[in-house]
Amino acid sequence: VPERKVAILGAAGGIGQPLALLMKLNPLVSSLSLFDIANTPGVAADVGHINTRSEVVGYMGDDELAKALEGADLVIIPAGVPRKPGMTRDDLFNINAGIVKNLSSAIAKYCPHALVNMISNPVNSTVPIAAEIFKKAGMYDEKKLFGVTTLDVVRAKTFYAGKANVPVAEVNVPVIGGHAGVTILPLFSQATPQANLSADVLTALTKRTQDGGTEVVEAKAGKGSATLSMAYAGALFADACLKGLNGVPDVVECSYVQSTITELPFFASKVRLGKNGVEEVLDLGPLSDFEKEGLEALKPELKSSIEKGVKFANQ
Ligand code: APR
Repeated sequence: VPERKVAILGAAGGIGQPLALLMKLNPLVSSLSLFDIANTPGVAADVGHINTRSEVVGYMGDDELAKALEGADLVIIPAGVPRKPGMTRDDLFNINAGIVKNLSSAIAKYCPHALVNMISNPVNSTVPIAAEIFKKAGMYDEKKLFGVTTLDVVRAKTFYAGKANVPVAEVNVPVIGGHAGVTILPLFSQATPQANLSADVLTALTKRTQDGGTEVVEAKAGKGSATLSMAYAGALFADACLKGLNGVPDVVECSYVQSTITELPFFASKVRLGKNGVEEVLDLGPLSDFEKEGLEALKPELKSSIEKGVKFANQ
């Protein structure tokens, strides 16, 4: 099994810590680099005692970012700030976008060949921000930059299995578009195993998948957003990327990538992963009329989120 260094930026956060734990359990990882602006020595000491393959090192503060990134094959970014009282959506956007901009510049400098898995929200905009920063640095490879939309797939599978009454472990559902609200479009017409669900049930499943994040925020009653399920999804997608890097054939996952599958420059769809990242962006396949409507409906919002990211990166 090849040596693989994985760096997590924002490793001491609500997503970062369980993600660090799950990546420590992954036998494909030989070196786990945990970076944050605070608390990484503790997280690294704690996770580092687990008797699995990878060596764990914690790095704290911008002075240690270079060392955290050097030699990384895969960088996972759940860094960000949660929304605090009095903060507008725009305030939050500007802070997280700024964090992503800085971290992307560092990746361009210290590990320009690494695959990048973006978790920091809003993913619809933070992926285009990273792409712009990488372009300016002259190292952009569109095959290596991914927005992690796996949580949408995970939720779609769970919710579908419940309604279709099939074993959840056997379920597959592609989810396309973006990673926020109506831009999330699960394709239940392509779900396997197929079940005969009514239009009303399919509409409700679609809405529940789109509102999955809000469901968790409301259940946590002011104490945060999805962290454990997001960490699971992040670890699942990272594992797929590592398998691709290692030459495992036929690794296919949905992800938000640069794409020509629609007229939008970034779009989530099924992607075949390989030794250089994206090997192939797969066809959307046949859509139901309901899904075709959903696809047209999501385009304006996704387009404006992409443009917002591009504008932020260039200002
Ligand atoms: N570099 C590295 N880490 C940073 C930086 C930075 N410049 N700024 C903040 N962080 C760290 C914080 O110190 C914290 O440990 O990012 C972590 C974020 O953790 P939480 O505040 O617990 O937030 P979390 O729930 O994990 O969400 C993080 O992921 O899904 C998205 O919307 C979510 O954008 C948010 C991000």
